[in-house]
Amino acid sequence: MSDIRKGLAGVVVDTTAISKVVPETNSLTYRGYAVQELAASCSFDEVAYLLWYGELPNPGQLEMFSQRERALRRADRSLLSLVAKLPENCHPMDVVRTVISYLGCEDPQEDDSARKANLAKALRMTAVLPTVIAADLRRRRGLDPIAPHSHLGFAENFLNMCFGSIPDARIVKAFEVSLILYAEHSFNASTFAARVVTSTQSDMYSAVTAAIGALKGPLHGGANEAVMHDMLAIGEPADAAEWLRRKLAAKDKVMGFGHRVYKNGDSRVPTMKAALDEIAALTGGVKWLAMYDAMEKTMADATGIKPNLDFPTGPAYYLMGFDIEMFTPIFVMSRITGWTAHIIEQAGSNALIRPLSEYSGVPQRALRS
Ligand code: CMC
Repeated sequence: MSDIRKGLAGVVVDTTAISKVVPETNSLTYRGYAVQELAASCSFDEVAYLLWYGELPNPGQLEMFSQRERALRRADRSLLSLVAKLPENCHPMDVVRTVISYLGCEDPQEDDSARKANLAKALRMTAVLPTVIAADLRRRRGLDPIAPHSHLGFAENFLNMCFGSIPDARIVKAFEVSLILYAEHSFNASTFAARVVTSTQSDMYSAVTAAIGALKGPLHGGANEAVMHDMLAIGEPADAAEWLRRKLAAKDKVMGFGHRVYKNGDSRVPTMKAALDEIAALTGGVKWLAMYDAMEKTMADATGIKPNLDFPTGPAYYLMGFDIEMFTPIFVMSRITGWTAHIIEQAGSNALIRPLSEYSGVPQRALRS
């Protein structure tokens, strides 16, 4: 029997220069910078630039980059009418996945191994996706879409397109922090899916579509939605401990807890918890902080398992006024920067990803005997 590592747990499959996760020191760096520091002092545009180009932009580079991103935000009529035609009861992640596929049909298929072409595609998708997600949020509420504004920052513009106004600057910052924390996380399932597709020399849109499919699942990005559904199902913080104990007794996974890599706490959680605290204080959502504390404590006492990033982002997005089904599309809006950085890296030093399997079916047999 070969040495099989189910789920590729603990298997190192390639090198990457994009990010580094160090579980022992509970740290995560993007291109060498600690993500907490980036979240505290950079804009989302700067982080996207860093992931794609390897260095933070100087003021002139940032200005040019932001101008290009802002010029690509508008969704043309055909794209908006495609969104309008999709069933309102499908999950918004299905809309996002379909839209990326559509963008791939529209784009002239240049040489996908060419770094320049891929950087242009990455920027195009990153710029237009918030417009599409906001339009989908609004149509589900029976509202018309709001066009993007080129004078607004990435986070501000998205919030304005969703809600028709820009919230308190502290809320905008807390939201931008969540986007920066979500942007990249080495060989997670969705990024790996994107790299597998890229390794066949397929195109960037196909790779991103695959990544979206992987992120949708509740063991990965879908956990932020599941966390809020659970919190609402519990109802009151005083009932959290009992609810959790029942869940654990039934051997169910508690969403928003545990991590494949971090076994002693997710390095991004303290920064996002501070952002959640800020949002809760400004929106009067302290009940959800009490719920957070009760669930965290009960899990720690019962299992020692700590929250992951999806645990604070769930209530944070809820308190900001997002519909729960929009939480994972917001994750896509950010993680698309990390995915595309990995697609470019994979295309730049490619080897077909094609692992082996150990056959466990019936032994070879004759068709007719
Ligand atoms: N609730 C209850 N028990 C858990 C949980 C949890 N959330 N996470 C791990 N465990 C238990 C698990 O049952 C197992 O126990 P035993 O050894 O008795 O069978 C032990 O801890 C080891 O867990 P595992 O499933 O082998 O760990 P893994 O590395 O395969 O799984 C995980 C990691 C994220 C899939 C898992 O922790 C999980 O399902 N968490 C809930 C879903 C979630 O929050 N996902 C978001 C992940 S982080 C952000 C992102 O990538 O999107």
